[in-house]
Amino acid sequence: MAVQRVSIVTGGALGIGGATSHRLARRGDLVLLNDVDEAAAARTAAEISNDGGHCVVVAGDVTDADTVARIAATADELGPVDVLVNNVGDFRPAARDFLHSTPEQWHRMHQLNLAHVLSLTHAVLPGMVERGRGAIVNNATIEALRGIPGHVVYSAYNAGVVAFTKSLAVEVGRHGIRVNAIAPDLADSEQTPAALMIGNRDPDRVRTWVPLGRFGHVDEYARVIEFLTSDAASYVTGHTLPVDGGTLAASGWYARVDGKGWTNFPRHA
Ligand SMILES: NC(=O)c1ccc[n+]([C@@H]2O[C@H](COP(=O)([O-])OP(=O)(O)OC[C@H]3O[C@@H](n4cnc5c(N)ncnc54)[C@H](O)[C@@H]3O)[C@@H](O)[C@H]2O)c1
Repeated sequence: MAVQRVSIVTGGALGIGGATSHRLARRGDLVLLNDVDEAAAARTAAEISNDGGHCVVVAGDVTDADTVARIAATADELGPVDVLVNNVGDFRPAARDFLHSTPEQWHRMHQLNLAHVLSLTHAVLPGMVERGRGAIVNNATIEALRGIPGHVVYSAYNAGVVAFTKSLAVEVGRHGIRVNAIAPDLADSEQTPAALMIGNRDPDRVRTWVPLGRFGHVDEYARVIEFLTSDAASYVTGHTLPVDGGTLAASGWYARVDGKGWTNFPRHA
């Protein structure tokens, strides 16, 4: 398969990132896959290569400066980078609420959700500017666009990702570089398995919360990333696209009448 583009995917082994690595490789991209889980990264790379695609792994925690430098150095060897998908993000470590959160938790949240997006983009951008083309997609969260009790810090840093996406798009548009984001909700992934999130509640109640009535498959998010990094989106920049089965449109967290926290299952309201 002839290589069409060089594309970096952080957290590219599993979940939405894994599905994205597969999709981009299938369309002919040489995928530079970064992941902290070395074994999972090797498995995904092997699957891609068995499929006839091309994948190079840079293992390591993307919140480490050294990993960012190794990703950038490997990208330089592979050729000009066309696509950067800043996918890594995590709602953990979570605190019970903001009152019980600690500066240590804020720091890790900042590293996992915002700082690496800036540092890897900063490392990759000069090559894109020099070449006069590039597409960047950041993975934010729907919680950047609505309030979520219990995940205040995660929400704040992801709102930073959304603002970064908008402002950078304005700065670099003249260089032919597009910058967009997706805002997922309810991906059935390793981080948020649907079975675990539903727990012992009636799975049928999911439809009272999600207009499309189900959790999303990781490939449904990857498809949107594929679109945003393709020429089909050549006039789309600066946007954050919710991929949420309609939850933002329907949004509503309800305080429980028994005072025991919040719920989005209306039977508890
Ligand atoms: N799952 C959801 O419903 C959901 C909702 C909103 C936003 N998101 C966002 O989507 C993105 C992907 O989520 P997911 O559910 O697919 O996650 P996941 O945890 O299922 O997969 C994440 C991948 O990234 C890797 N990874 C984790 N930390 C890393 C690090 N520091 N450095 C390098 N690799 C790392 C993991 O090993 C794994 O391969 C995240 O930014 C997350 O915040 C997910």
